[in-house]
Formats: sequence, structure tokens, C-alpha cells
Amino acid sequence: MKKENIASKSFFIFDAFRTIFKTSEIDAELKSIAKDKTENLIFVWRKKQLEYTWLRNQMNQYAPFSQVTKEALDYSMRVNGLKNPRIFDLLLPIYDSPSLIDGAFEALNFLKEKNKTVCILSNGTRAMLENGVRKTGIEDIVDFIFSVDDIQVYKPREEVYQMAMDKLDADVNELLFFSSNQWDVSGASVFGWDCAWVNQDEEVREGLPFGKVVELGGLKEITF
Ligand code: LAC
Repeated sequence: MKKENIASKSFFIFDAFRTIFKTSEIDAELKSIAKDKTENLIFVWRKKQLEYTWLRNQMNQYAPFSQVTKEALDYSMRVNGLKNPRIFDLLLPIYDSPSLIDGAFEALNFLKEKNKTVCILSNGTRAMLENGVRKTGIEDIVDFIFSVDDIQVYKPREEVYQMAMDKLDADVNELLFFSSNQWDVSGASVFGWDCAWVNQDEEVREGLPFGKVVELGGLKEITF
């Protein structure tokens, strides 16, 4: 997959959390409660949230991402010795009512103006994704929202990528999938999709199987 080929695609499918929606927002109140544990609270929360989805896949124990997200936060609070329930009020809205990452609006809008089909494919619940799209004013830009809620298994199980392809009735060569999450890029590219790894945090490449992947430094590189 080469950068020059991006323009030839018709369906642009974006992962949600960490790719176009933020997974961390730290305000003064959170800092005053969690103090020097703030960064680790957020780090363990996200790590466990993902780990729980993968384990639930293995055990055929799907529960909505809202529940998994809350259970992971509860664990992260306990492991960090934090008890104040106000932390739930401050952090859960990051997922329940998400905000856009800098540059996401411009990237999605650019694609829409080029008459591309813009989609979201996420482990998030439909409610999370619809709230985010409404709140951030990208309702008219995003053509389709695909949530794993519909099939009750999480990425990177192949059924999830297959679901999006079935619903779009698209040919595999017409699709390009964008994710900042390497495990997701691994899953989608091994499934057979051309992928763009949006490496916004200058991560080192994981030791996972990858198919055809182009690496981008950020969403602003989506231009042609
Ligand atoms: C998503 C998360 C898990 O699928 O990044 O949106």
C-alpha cells in the first residue's frame, strides 16, 4: 500500500477512539483528585479497557463497550489507590460523549469534499459514536457508523471488518481503513484491507502480523 494510492479509494473507514476521538482529557479537577496518579490512571484504564475486550472475545462474553470501559476504570482506580467516585463523572464522558482529535474534522471534511464515502468502524457503542458525531458537528460528513454492538464481538475479530464490508457492499480494493491503534491495523490488514496506520504518537512498530499498510504521521497527511 503506497501513499499515492490513497486518492484512488472510494470508502474511507476510520477507527474511532484514539484515531479521530480523544481517549484522554485531563482537567484541573481530575488532577486535584488523582494528583501524581493521574497519568497512570488514564494509561491503565485504556490498557485494561482494550485487554478486557480481547478477553471477552476469547470467552464469548460480549458486554457493551460502555460497561467494559467503566469496569476498566474501576480497576484502574483501585490499582492506583483512588476511591473518589467523582472520577467516573470526569472520565467516562471521554467515551460517552467524545471529542475530536486535532485535525480530525479537517481530514474527514477533506474526504467528503472529494466525494468519498466516510465511515466509522468502532468497538464503541452506537450511542457513544452517535453522540460524538452529533456533538462534534461531523453528522453531515460521516456517511455510515458501524458499531460492534450489531454483532457483539470486538475488533480485531474478522467478523467486525466483514460486517462493514457487507453493509457497504464494497469491493475490498475500494476500501482504506485508518487507525492509530496498531492491533487494529494488524487485524484489518491481515483480514485483507489496505490500511493507513496513523502513527500520531511516534510509536515503535509492534511485533504483530501486518498486511498492506502505509504509515502516516498524522491525520493532516490525508491529502491528495
Ligand atoms: C475503537 C477503539 C477501541 O474501536 O479504538 O474505536
